[in-house]
Amino acid sequence: MWTRRNVLKTIAAAGGMLATPATLRQAIGATEPDVVLKLVAAPARVSVRSGPETHVLRYTGEVLRGRRDAIRYSPGNLGPTLELRRGEHVRIEVVNRTGTPTVVHWHGMIVSDTADGHPHQAVHSGESYTIEFTVRNPAGTYLYHPHPHRITGRQTYYGLAGLLIVREPKERDLGLPAPEHELQLILQDRRIGKDNQFVFKRMMMDDMNGVLGDRVLVNGVDDAAFKVTPRAYRLRIANVSNARVYKLAWSDGRPLRVIASDGGLFSRAEGVQERPYVTLFPFERVELLEDFGARRDGAEIALVSREFSGMDDMMGSMMGQQGESGRGGGIMGGMMGGMMGGMMGGGMMGGMMGPSQGEELHVARFTVSPGPRARTQALALPEPEPRAQEGKYELRTQLAFRHMRGFLNDRRFDTEDMMAVAEDERLPAGKASVWTFSNDGGGMPMPHPMHIHGVRFRIIERSAGGTPADLREGIIDTGYKDTFGIFAGERVRVQIAPTVPGLFMYHCHNLEHEDGGMMRNCLFHA
Ligand code: C2O
Ligand code: CU
Ligand code: CU
Repeated sequence: MWTRRNVLKTIAAAGGMLATPATLRQAIGATEPDVVLKLVAAPARVSVRSGPETHVLRYTGEVLRGRRDAIRYSPGNLGPTLELRRGEHVRIEVVNRTGTPTVVHWHGMIVSDTADGHPHQAVHSGESYTIEFTVRNPAGTYLYHPHPHRITGRQTYYGLAGLLIVREPKERDLGLPAPEHELQLILQDRRIGKDNQFVFKRMMMDDMNGVLGDRVLVNGVDDAAFKVTPRAYRLRIANVSNARVYKLAWSDGRPLRVIASDGGLFSRAEGVQERPYVTLFPFERVELLEDFGARRDGAEIALVSREFSGMDDMMGSMMGQQGESGRGGGIMGGMMGGMMGGMMGGGMMGGMMGPSQGEELHVARFTVSPGPRARTQALALPEPEPRAQEGKYELRTQLAFRHMRGFLNDRRFDTEDMMAVAEDERLPAGKASVWTFSNDGGGMPMPHPMHIHGVRFRIIERSAGGTPADLREGIIDTGYKDTFGIFAGERVRVQIAPTVPGLFMYHCHNLEHEDGGMMRNCLFHA
């Protein structure tokens, strides 16, 4: 296991990379932090539903210096919501009392590689470490979660995760609902077994599909209910499930008005995206502008995840191909294949084998209290951000899933050399490059949520025909992203302009795929 000092030494030894932290330190000056936080990861017992308490892992937080409102308590098993302001300098002490190694990653945040929470930075239980960063990200909905190699899925499943909201004063002029009219919805599916205890991995399927649950916890509680007044709300929705894809819709059929994705608000040019449903892959986020004033007094509406069969069809068609390709064979015989088909979709095997991808799920209930309708303000989304200067650089990554494991250009995460970075995993900071992902590397065709650390990127192209018809309309490729779903056979091109050089990661954010090694380093060089 690595201590922080070791890490810095290794980075120095890796050559050239020491320049990064030094430059950063200069850029932020020797400034004293505006906010000092302490986050403790430890076992806890919480009430996620009526009946016995559930044993979980949980982050608890404390403000050691600065704004008291930088941390907001969360119910259930979730960590506190961190509320930071753009431009603020933040110091966070992380204390590990989980009993296993851990490290915290600030998902979506542009921080130096020394603060990013790479698996090599994990510390033993009983140890702590401190990181600092300046909040560069625009206002938006980000996350923090563990990132130790091989056990990220388990730690996250048992409860280590939280929301990180970045705010900017200029949001007040955009006509958005004020913070008191915001709701956060963190979606996590769970299997809840005897005595209300979480059930994690149980079968081989769990490594292949990722761990799926049959109940959706919202903000760490089962059967979440919200009381709202008849006015507009800003809903921040984050999929913090290990593997579950949601097809989010209102039970009364009203469309969803999406105003932001992973990396902040859409620009005025992009505009509000009105969709009949939203397809949300693990660790993607959306923000909705929802006018509950458009419903009658006392209305009861539910947010649901609609059934979809797209992946089932895909699995079916793949069964035929698999034998011929020769690449995907292995332990996946025809019979296994048939069972997988059922698992991936709401197929008839699904019920027998446990929760399945694509089944209809209840998410949360909303009750509109009677009262005067508040007039909705006109929304003025921000001006588009200036684009980075275009470089000539292009990267290509081919995804494959063979013998129960994911590959990126035929490579997996190197546990012997955690800093390993190949030639086709380097790109310049300060310029816009194009990175093409194609999910056609053979083996088992399946969708993957791809994520890149330390950068916000734009999706510039998604090949036609790859997205299943019953999920297509819900795909939000608008705005700045850090995670996107890529279906079997699909090709997605992103424009990426890293601003902070350093050694970061890209990986599948299906946590079981990630833990299985579908993860690599990428180097943004100066
Ligand atoms: Cu949200 Cu590398 O992770
Ligand atoms: Cu990340
Ligand atoms: Cu994957």
